[in-house]
Amino acid sequence: MNKTINGFSKLSKQSKIDWLTANFLQNTAENGSNTEGSPSDVFTQFQSSDAEFQRVFDGFSENTVANFPIPFGIAPNFLINNKTYAVPMVIEESSVVAAAASAAKFWSERGGFKAEVLGTMKVGQVHFTWSGNGAILRGLLFEELKAVLIEKAKPITANMERRGGGIRVIELVDFTAEEPDYYQLRVQFETCDSMGANFINSVLESFGEDLTFFLADKTDIAPVVVMCILSNYTPQCVVRASVECDVQDFHHEEAAFYADKFRRAVRIAKLDPYRAVTHNKGIMNGIDSVVLATANDFRAIEACAHAFAARDGQYRSLSDCSIENGRFKFWIDMPLAVGTVGGLTSLHPLAKLSMQILGNPSAAELMQVIAVVGLAQNFGAVRSLVTTGIQRGHMKMHLTNILNHLHATPEEATGAVAFFDHKMVSFTAVRDFLTSFRAEKSA
Ligand code: MEV
Repeated sequence: MNKTINGFSKLSKQSKIDWLTANFLQNTAENGSNTEGSPSDVFTQFQSSDAEFQRVFDGFSENTVANFPIPFGIAPNFLINNKTYAVPMVIEESSVVAAAASAAKFWSERGGFKAEVLGTMKVGQVHFTWSGNGAILRGLLFEELKAVLIEKAKPITANMERRGGGIRVIELVDFTAEEPDYYQLRVQFETCDSMGANFINSVLESFGEDLTFFLADKTDIAPVVVMCILSNYTPQCVVRASVECDVQDFHHEEAAFYADKFRRAVRIAKLDPYRAVTHNKGIMNGIDSVVLATANDFRAIEACAHAFAARDGQYRSLSDCSIENGRFKFWIDMPLAVGTVGGLTSLHPLAKLSMQILGNPSAAELMQVIAVVGLAQNFGAVRSLVTTGIQRGHMKMHLTNILNHLHATPEEATGAVAFFDHKMVSFTAVRDFLTSFRAEKSA
């Protein structure tokens, strides 16, 4: 059967669902193997009955047939630079919000988190080839070119300049030794409270056009602009989040032992990429969930984070830890190109609420909150790993999910929690437990 289609995007939503069902969900539709109903029922269930609301959602993307909900949770008690935040987190993984909330509480009783923006520079590139004399291009010609590019882009940059942003640096990077005739303009921007992607890309495209005219005119050799696009690698748009306390403030009889185990766990993630990836994944659990809750671009944040983690040539932990003279310090430097105006942040009703919950922060303040949540998440994960192990907390949540799935009553759930206190949780084990629990009850 030919399952390709022309003009899918032009079908109505219901026709899209019908086509999908007929071509890819036939077995599900016929055997009713979805307990939730037919595919069409499920898709319909995950659409808003409010037509206007659904229209806004459909407008975010293309070929939409449903919404895909992910839990929106709150981690309260984040004390950051002496201000208390309740942080919205959108994540599907159990234990993440609970761990963030627990770490937030822990540190709120020990002075809270400190956060400081180290830089806010965004980057864009015009990649081009040009076969003329490189020495001439790198010399006076480039100074003249820069002035022309800035002048010609004024209609695009004027508004951003009024807000305090704009073009900050234009560099010429010569790659001709690696690739014949290949140069790039590497441009740094300040985009204030916006993530700035549209602004940056518009300026770069204007640069690309003007660069072509300029070089063709001045040298009779026209360049070829390969592409103009922002870079998601923003090592100069970085925030530092940190906590510190006396080791004794851990209030544990073996505080020094566990603090040192913690420090060593971070050190291991500095040394070994296999551990570093998992360690950083834990950090990204926190970072991504706030980035998502505020409708920022989590793919951009992820891509940048991992490049930054490998900036010295080896992939390493994003966080650091030290213990000196009985003082425990734990910190992270995190590149975070986020925005609080423009984009989806003001279009998505929940993202708007997230911003309000956070007190409508500037982009710089949001960077601080996000980095702190990443650090808190990392603290929670590593603390569990070096003490009780991660499975205990995970198993509790896993058990709750299975009990919900099996429609356990509150009484059955209480029985199950007691029964599985020191046992492995699996779907089969919980189902078997419920079967015998129910049989005993009805006996
Ligand atoms: C699980 O989502 C995250 C952890 O694996 C992070 C870590 O190992 O540090 C627990």
